[in-house]
Amino acid sequence: MKRLDTLYIDNSLVDNVLTHWRNAQLVAIPTETVYGLAADAENNLAVARIYEAKSRPQFNPLIVHVANVEIAKRYAEWNAQAEALSAAFWPGPMTLVMQRRRDCALSDLVSAGGDTVGIRIPAHPITQQLLKAYGKGIAAPSANRSGRVSPTTAAHVLSEFGDTLPLIIDGGACDIGVESTVIDVSGEGAVILRPGSITREMVTAILPEIHDVGIITDGAAIKSPGQLESHYAPSIPVRLNVTEVATDEALLGFGSSVLPGAKTMLNLSPRSDLVEAAANLFAYLRALDVPSHRAIAVMPIPTHGIGEAINDRLRRAAA
Ligand code: TXA
Ligand code: MG
Repeated sequence: MKRLDTLYIDNSLVDNVLTHWRNAQLVAIPTETVYGLAADAENNLAVARIYEAKSRPQFNPLIVHVANVEIAKRYAEWNAQAEALSAAFWPGPMTLVMQRRRDCALSDLVSAGGDTVGIRIPAHPITQQLLKAYGKGIAAPSANRSGRVSPTTAAHVLSEFGDTLPLIIDGGACDIGVESTVIDVSGEGAVILRPGSITREMVTAILPEIHDVGIITDGAAIKSPGQLESHYAPSIPVRLNVTEVATDEALLGFGSSVLPGAKTMLNLSPRSDLVEAAANLFAYLRALDVPSHRAIAVMPIPTHGIGEAINDRLRRAAA
């Protein structure tokens, strides 16, 4: 994996992105988790264009990305949990769901009409550079069409949207590869709505009282609609925890001893490294998602640490 610490883009490209945002246009941007489809979060038209481009159900709220905590505090009500978690994990792969401030300038669409907002300070240096230059919130869901896997390279974004996107910023392959951990701190406690690379163990170390509700499968109770079971779906069937594989299936392997017999095989991590597996997950699902395979057969992946997020995404891919 490429280290991105020294990456930056020149001023004319920054200006180009900012002009698009000021004109309510979409720009695809890299983050350390997945690529985002980014537009001005204070502009209703811009936010509506995101929903349109993604063909996303209207009820699904969007994450607002900001450069720093000072800007976040213009939009959201702060509390002790937000203070502790933001100090520990921002900039980084964590989204905090908080109460909107009464004078919040964000489009209501980013909250899908509700009274909370999901905010994140991403760590990717190019996106930090862009957010600092813009100085306000940028709504950016993952840059895929609704129901498809999240893109982890600029080429994935291009294959999702073709020429319909005016600008895609290529910041290399995403370091982490699964979306941010979404934590609801809008109430008294803290609840993980979507697992990610900031694990339950890491959150609990900061907030010893946290309750993790796990995955909400009851449609009526969905708090984080990204948890819809069919959210991450390749176009061919996905079988999980396989112990044998047919010749016309594609195998998604893990670890040093992969099952024999598949027509095609990609190994998420030959050395059983879950972080490496997460970074490869969506790219490999895409690569194996071709009609000549009857199905994608996935070997068991351990459930500790970021393995919890990997298994969560795989369950939805299989739903
Ligand atoms: O890593 C990420 O989070 C990426 C990159 C681009 O930052 N973004 C991303 O956005 O995954 P999206 O829109 O695909 O997923 C946002 C998740 C959804 O599950 C959504 O329902 C939840 O966050 N979410 C956002 N705002 C929320 C809110 N106010 N209340 C509850 N859930 C919220
Ligand atoms: Mg998404």
